[in-house]
Amino acid sequence: MKNILVIGAAGQIGSELVPELRKRYGTNNVVAADLNTEANAEILRAGPFEKIDILDTDKIVEVMKKFKIDTVYNLVALLSAKGEAMPNLSWKINIGGLVNLLDICVEYKSALFTPSSIGAFGPGTPKIKTPQDTIQRPNTIYGVTKVSGELLCDYYFKRFGLDTRGVRYPGIISNVTAPGGGTTDYAVHIYYDAIQKGHYTCFLKEGSQMDMMYMPDAVNAAIEVMEANPAKLKHRNAFNVTAMHFAPENLYAEIKKHIPNFTMDYDVDPIRQAIADSWPDSLDDTCAKEEWGWKPTYNLNAMTKDMLNVLSKKLKK
Ligand code: SER
Repeated sequence: MKNILVIGAAGQIGSELVPELRKRYGTNNVVAADLNTEANAEILRAGPFEKIDILDTDKIVEVMKKFKIDTVYNLVALLSAKGEAMPNLSWKINIGGLVNLLDICVEYKSALFTPSSIGAFGPGTPKIKTPQDTIQRPNTIYGVTKVSGELLCDYYFKRFGLDTRGVRYPGIISNVTAPGGGTTDYAVHIYYDAIQKGHYTCFLKEGSQMDMMYMPDAVNAAIEVMEANPAKLKHRNAFNVTAMHFAPENLYAEIKKHIPNFTMDYDVDPIRQAIADSWPDSLDDTCAKEEWGWKPTYNLNAMTKDMLNVLSKKLKK
């Protein structure tokens, strides 16, 4: 990776991936791009920034040429709950955008990272220790775009030799940019409300267990899978990765260790509950460990300490 383009840079992952990439590869070698030119402007404009609509192929090509891009991170996507509200737009952005990038990357010989998700699994998937290769029949449009995306990326690798790679992210917990429109978002909101209100109303019910990961590990996964020795990769799109799994009551109990007066109740959103129920309880990420040395560093305990520490400072300002 020498000249990197991050599309969707203003989002939850992009706003933390861009600074880390700039630290490792040089500020001027990492171009941040987003349709939104205001969000996280200070972070993203610490180096080159371009306004890009993922559906505007001419603009993408212009930027690929201008910066001699050899690696693209495609972080543009409508998340699961938002997708259910707008299925057509979800397909257009998640798949239309991906196909644009696949074709452009073939032409400009650029590697391409596209995240998949636990959303690529469905109710027929084995729920416990979900294997790398298993049944993938999701019943959300988000999941349909993620499985289709995985297949397209593997197809372009086989057919055109395009260096496509990806990981299946679990819910990602972070403190720079909040996620929007996802089912796992509760695990971010709960920290903000614990600090600001001392109370959180959860939109998922007790027992809704899902895989989760703290952002520093998510950022590392994105970089390490792209740096992996291709000769060792048996899989490409996309690797199961996980760091922890818990249900709302486990997260609540962990936060309560630090904020003893913290309370939580439930007001279940049936749409997001149905989505959570269709996803795995715990992923098996052995292939990522064996093929490129995946190793998360944060568990629930360490993540909670760090989240509360960072957020209490940030929210006091
Ligand atoms: N965090 C995503 C969502 O909840 C899953 O990939 O939609």
